[in-house]
Amino acid sequence: MKGKTAKESLTINTEVVLPNDTNHIGNLFGGKLLQWMDVTSAIAAGRHSNRVVVTASINHVSFDNPIKQNSVVTLEAKVSRAFTSSMEVHIDVYVEHRITGEKTKCNEAIFTFVAIDQNGAPLPVPPLIPETEEEIKRYEGALRRRQLSLILAGRMKPHEASELKALFVED
Ligand SMILES: CC(C)(COP(=O)(O)OP(=O)(O)OC[C@H]1O[C@@H](n2cnc3c(N)ncnc32)[C@H](O)[C@@H]1OP(=O)(O)O)[C@@H](O)C(=O)NCCC(=O)NCCS
Repeated sequence: MKGKTAKESLTINTEVVLPNDTNHIGNLFGGKLLQWMDVTSAIAAGRHSNRVVVTASINHVSFDNPIKQNSVVTLEAKVSRAFTSSMEVHIDVYVEHRITGEKTKCNEAIFTFVAIDQNGAPLPVPPLIPETEEEIKRYEGALRRRQLSLILAGRMKPHEASELKALFVED
């Protein structure tokens, strides 16, 4: 299958934080942000695979800074690596200053999606071709993160995780 670049899957979604999206202290509710992240990342995975995709796992979510009501929030997602039927997607979240337009990064997360057929069975996806320095770094780390995710999901035995063993276990 012919490879596709990360930028082909780039998905940008801009939202405004409305009163209904906030918690009792006036900040964006974490669950709402996760929903926006899930939808934006799924579109990126769908653009890469041209298939229906489902969320297999959500990892490395960090809520670094609170986001206030009325903020303009931009979510940017790109596929960082594709395996057989699964795709890792990195998503970065920025808050935009209303006057200067300056964007400050406030959150990020890593999602894994699986392309499926009409019966829910996994389908092969194109390989990812990383181009920029950041895309190459994310691509190289993806196998390690995949193994960690599969161990946590009980789908891989720790001794099978070649990449993690290289990090934590001395010969
Ligand atoms: C994700 C799903 C399609 C996997 O189906 P499966 O029959 O278990 O398929 P497999 O074991 O062959 O795994 C398929 C791929 O998913 C990947 N995968 C499964 N669980 C994973 C996890 N927790 N983290 C990362 N990757 C995972 C596998 O590594 C494999 O990737 P590969 O083909 O690139 O090697 C299936 O578990 C599912 O439909 N889950 C529900 C998804 C959903 O409804 N999400 C919405 C939120 S509720």
